[in-house]
Amino acid sequence: MVPFTIPAWLPLLLLPCTLLVLMKKVMESKKQHPPGPPGLPLIGNMHQLGALVHQSLWQMSKKYGPLIRLKLGSVPLVVVSSAETARQILKIHDIETCSRPELLATGSFSYNFLDIAFAPYGEYWKELRKISNNELFSNKRVQSFRFIREEEVASLVQTLSQSAASKSLVDIKELLFSLSTNVIWRVAFGESFEENKWESRVFQVKLKEAISLLGTFSASDLFPYVGWIIDRLTGLHGRLQKSVQEMDVFLQEIIEKHEGKKVGEGKEDIVDVLLKIEELQNEQGSVTLSRNHIKAILKDVFAAGIESTGITMVWALTELMRSPRVMKKIQAEIRDVMGNKGKVNEDDIEKLVYLNMVVKETWRLHPPAPLLIPREVMSPFKVNGYKIYPKTRLHVNVWAIGRDPKIWKDPEEFLPERFAGSSIDFKGQHFEFLPFGGGRRACPGINMGSTLVELTLANLLYRFDWKLPNGMSKEDINIDEAPGISIHKKIPLQVVPAAYI
Ligand code: HEM
Repeated sequence: MVPFTIPAWLPLLLLPCTLLVLMKKVMESKKQHPPGPPGLPLIGNMHQLGALVHQSLWQMSKKYGPLIRLKLGSVPLVVVSSAETARQILKIHDIETCSRPELLATGSFSYNFLDIAFAPYGEYWKELRKISNNELFSNKRVQSFRFIREEEVASLVQTLSQSAASKSLVDIKELLFSLSTNVIWRVAFGESFEENKWESRVFQVKLKEAISLLGTFSASDLFPYVGWIIDRLTGLHGRLQKSVQEMDVFLQEIIEKHEGKKVGEGKEDIVDVLLKIEELQNEQGSVTLSRNHIKAILKDVFAAGIESTGITMVWALTELMRSPRVMKKIQAEIRDVMGNKGKVNEDDIEKLVYLNMVVKETWRLHPPAPLLIPREVMSPFKVNGYKIYPKTRLHVNVWAIGRDPKIWKDPEEFLPERFAGSSIDFKGQHFEFLPFGGGRRACPGINMGSTLVELTLANLLYRFDWKLPNGMSKEDINIDEAPGISIHKKIPLQVVPAAYI
């Protein structure tokens, strides 16, 4: 037998051929990714994102199109910035994309992803969503909290009447956030928020801290295998743990106070409802909810409910102060419809058509969560001819879609009339307007949030005229945004109320 020997020149020929094939493969796979700005080794595109991430991504989408791909450290990120591509993701590819990434802040904040907003997609989340849709935020439940909203709004009107009598300047954010805190606190715990009670203050401060951390990138989120070391060294991990422990003590106490309490049908707060479900599940031996689940859901209600409603009302009043024409028109509507009735209640809201348009226009320009909550891709799919792979983080830039000149005429103008006679609503079916998101992960608190916003604005605009501080004109009102997962107005809006009735 002739021994088989490899000629010396063969590797020399094979090597470039193999390299060529490999390069072709890399080029082809690159071609299938959505386009995006080139990044740097290790950090990817981190350095190209400014403090207002949604605005940086909007600028990039103008150059690279409605579907862009970036890298945050080692994590791939895809961002959608057009209504049509949002429709494809949230409607056609909802199931492939409806998980949530396991981020350090969300995990620690929500007891290892036990809550509704941050739980990965799966049986457990489906069970929670069922509870939230049928029990926690159903129309019937939202109605059962009506008296809380009406009492708290009446109390705010009283506070403002005193400011009006003394012609004092008020900080709108402070007032409206304290309103939404009071409402959500009573809805969740059944008791009033006591500003001076130490435990309530600690809970509030820790919650704010945790929410602000939700908007930051931790090392372990950017470099999943090694980043945790940095998070431990910088103390971020420890800080989060401490926050959670402090909130835990408070929530434990609240839950214990509710145990064994007999509450009539329709009179329960959220803790009562969750304890009843826990009891029922224990009886049936089908346990989904433990104490930690209940605490995680409670934190969800606070984090999701307070910020988003407060932010919306502040932006609505800011835009109204900047547009005297719209302010005059909305006040005329409310005052015409209400006459001398003295207060707007929830039955009156549906008669206030222009108010509804003003709220929609506020959400078009100022959606509280401009990039929604990040999704995580679970299985591969194709969109716009590009391939999207599992573990990709996905954001829908609803802030950018609300400003798309192909959809909205004069997008930067605050023109509520654009919604006149239009069927566009905010329930997640109109992909050009998604303040509450869409698909399976859309907000379950739409009714709770929109009712509080409309009721409060209606009463404030009915009962008071609003003036800017001496020497300030509407052109001086600053509309800069503050960075974060939800977009606050950066500079507080200060105004002087004057009693109308
Ligand atoms: C103005 C009011 C509100 C706005 C604009 C708003 C907006 C949003 C948005 C944009 C999302 C993410 C949707 C997505 O990722 O596709 C969300 C999720 C959520 N919201 Fe709201 N929200 C509001 C009020 C509320 C209220 C009052 C509650 C409850 C008390 C609530 C509970 C939740 C929960 C639990 C989720 C997570 C849903 C999931 O991942 O399955 N929201 N909300």
